[in-house]
This record gives sequence, C-alpha cells and structure tokens, in this order.
Amino acid sequence: MSDLALSAIRGAALTFTGDPFSEPSDSAIRYERDAILVMEDGLITEFGDAETLLPTLWDGVEITTYNDSLILPGFIDCHVHYPQTQIIGAAGEALIDWLDKYTFVAEQAFTERDHASESAEIFCDELLRNGTTTASVFCTVHEHSADALFESVHSRNMRMIAGKVLMDRNAPNALQDTAQSGYDESKRLINRWHDKDRLLYAITPRFAASSTPEQLALAGALWRENPGTYVQSHISETQQEIDWIQKLYPERNGYLDVYDHYGLTGPRSLYGHGIHLTDAEWQHFHDTGTAIAHCPTSNQFLGSGLFDIGKAKLPARPVSVGLATDLGAGTSFSMIKTMGAAYQVARLAGADLNAAQALYLATTGAAKALCLNDKIGTLEAGSEADLAIIDLKSTPIIDYRMRFADSLEEMLFVLITMGDDRAIRATYVGGHVAYQRD
Ligand code: GUN
Ligand code: ZN
Repeated sequence: MSDLALSAIRGAALTFTGDPFSEPSDSAIRYERDAILVMEDGLITEFGDAETLLPTLWDGVEITTYNDSLILPGFIDCHVHYPQTQIIGAAGEALIDWLDKYTFVAEQAFTERDHASESAEIFCDELLRNGTTTASVFCTVHEHSADALFESVHSRNMRMIAGKVLMDRNAPNALQDTAQSGYDESKRLINRWHDKDRLLYAITPRFAASSTPEQLALAGALWRENPGTYVQSHISETQQEIDWIQKLYPERNGYLDVYDHYGLTGPRSLYGHGIHLTDAEWQHFHDTGTAIAHCPTSNQFLGSGLFDIGKAKLPARPVSVGLATDLGAGTSFSMIKTMGAAYQVARLAGADLNAAQALYLATTGAAKALCLNDKIGTLEAGSEADLAIIDLKSTPIIDYRMRFADSLEEMLFVLITMGDDRAIRATYVGGHVAYQRD
C-alpha cells in the first residue's frame, strides 16, 4: 500500500455519464483509450485524456500504468450475507428449506464473536479480490456480528452498508431477538457505526415472514428517527414465500404493502430479488423510489425464478436496480460473473440486457440504487477513489477471444461472459491499492 496521499494511474478507462437503460450505450459511456486518473486524499481529483493531463501534473507524482487493462469504478454488490460465506454451494433445496437446513444452522455459529470476526475478515478479503469496494451486507441477528463486520471494513477504509438482522419469529430460538431488543441493538449499532468515516447502517428486517408486525413497526420508527440510514430486506423471491406472507399478513394487500404499511419503503430502502412482483408493485417501487437488488446467481441456484429486467426498466416507470451476489445462495463473489449471469437470465426471461447495461447495474446504477452516486460508482473528479483494474487478458482463452472483439461492447461482453476473479489486476480503496493480484 502506498503511503503517498497523491498518486496517479494510467490506462484505458470507462465510466458512465448517463443511464444506458434510457439512452444509447454510446452516449451513456465515457471511454478514454488512454486516461490519467489522479487521486488525492481518497478522492479522484482529475480524470481525462493522458495527453492533455500529463503536462499539467506535478513532476514528482507517481504514475502506475496498467496495460491491456480497463480501469473501472469499484464494483458495488447491493445485497450479500457475509455469514453465509461458509455455505456457498449448499445445494438441493428451494428457499424456505434452504434457510432451515443450511442458513439458520450456519448463522447460529455467529453466537461466537471470534467466529464472526474470522468470517468478516475472509469476506472482506474476498470482496477486494473480486474488485468489489462497496456492498450492502446482511449480518446475523447477533449485535456483535455487525460489530465484527464494521471493524473489518473500517480497518480497510471501505465504503460499506451493513446491519444486524431483525428476526423475532419463524426462526430457531437461538436466532431470534424481540421487537424491542432488535430495536435497541440496532439503535446502539447506529450510534457506534453509522456515518463513522465511510460506514453506513442498514436497518435489516430479514423478511416479513421472520418479523412480527410489532418488529416491522419498530423498524420503521427507527428508520424515521435516524435520517440517512438504510433499510434492506427481501421481497417476492418465490411463490411459496409470497403465499406465506399472505397468510401471515391477511389484512395487507400483497407483499410490498406489508413493508409500505410499516414505513419501510422510499429512497435508501433496498429489497433483494423482486422476481414475482405484480404490475401494481412495480409501479409502487417506481413511485416511492424504492430499489431492487437483482440477484441472478442466487435466483438460478435456488431455482427461484427469472428476474425480468425489461419489466423493471419499463420506460414509463423505471425502477432503480442494482446488481447483487446474494451469497451464500449466490454462487460467486465475482460481480463479473454476476453480470454474465444477469445477461443469461435476461435472455431466458425474454428481455434484453447489453453488456454496458450489465456493467451499469454493478457500478453507477448500483450507486444510484443506494443513493450514493454523488460519492461512488463513477470515475469523475470529485468521486471517492474506489477502483477495479480489469485485466483484459486474464486467461489464455480470453486473451485469444479478445483479439476478435472489434468494439467496446463486444469486449465488455467477452469480459462478463468469460471473466472472473482472475480478471481483477488490482483494487483501489480510497486512492490506495487494497488488493494486488501479482
Ligand atoms: N429470504 C430471507 N432470508 C434469506 C436469505 O438469507 N437468503 C435468500 N436468498 N433469501 C432470503
Ligand atoms: Zn438475501
């Protein structure tokens, strides 16, 4: 890690200046074939064409050049469970059985603080190895599980959103809080961590099935009492889950209406999955500025269904969407692989998703879904200096295939179809190298 507060990198770079879902990719992308990016005190201070910027740079500035690479904003994973790192690939069950058989067993190990700390460290290392610089993270029900994660990300200076799960029914006793204890613990965590340097707190009712109405009401109250905090949960992942919610909340008019009723929708609220939403629910997501975390590898793994990105982005009522791994139902930490999965799911759902759009969902679009687009998800000057440096020749077969790619779009498609963690040459956090492959 460099100790210099001022540094610069040089190479091909890509960032979004517009939304490729509402304008042609060509006009939404800023691509610099040979760019210089200057970083100072954690921020990007200059970004532009090397020929123009080089003569203006201070002589002593250290410039690291990345050949055969692509400089991108650091990836953003909008929905992930760090305690489930230990059960990735636990196969053979649909959502509710998978929760009972694997997830709730694994999460009970987090009663031990040391286990939480070890898991948080491995999780953060793996995010950085995959070029992911920000995530919205579910912890377990244990207050100290959130402390463990916040300590790990704080020592790495990462911009991170996280929260202790709220769960006061339909889970093993060892994993239940109460409406009041969940409120009190979340409040203490907000006081300890929210807005501390680059950290943000998310009030985290796991899903409506594992919270009582009292708990959801207190979660809504806590959110109102703490402006700037987030809400994260799950919605409409499987039909079995939707039917269960209907039984648990017969007085409500559908799944989203449950969250809406308790004041848990609006900007800075983010719901994982949203595969089986009704048209009225889509409209309500749009109207309230509530965001969806699209979790394609998880939805494939559990057989939950095909998220229709076309429906989400209907021009008349576009919904804010960010891409997510949803580990450990998701199968990879790699947002590159997750983009590839999003493309394939779109094909199966009969929707279109081009490579630029997939990349947007993992960078600028994700930052927008998290209301953080004034800070992360772009390379423009003023933004926080979190970067993923992509190796465009990371395997022999990718190197070979890239020789036949004759457009930026095709190059991006090859990357998201064939790339994985090996394509991450370096990851920068706050202007410093936080991971270096070689
Ligand atoms: N719904 C409620 N909890 C979970 C979880 O941990 N993973 C997934 N995929 N869905 C959920
Ligand atoms: Zn999830």
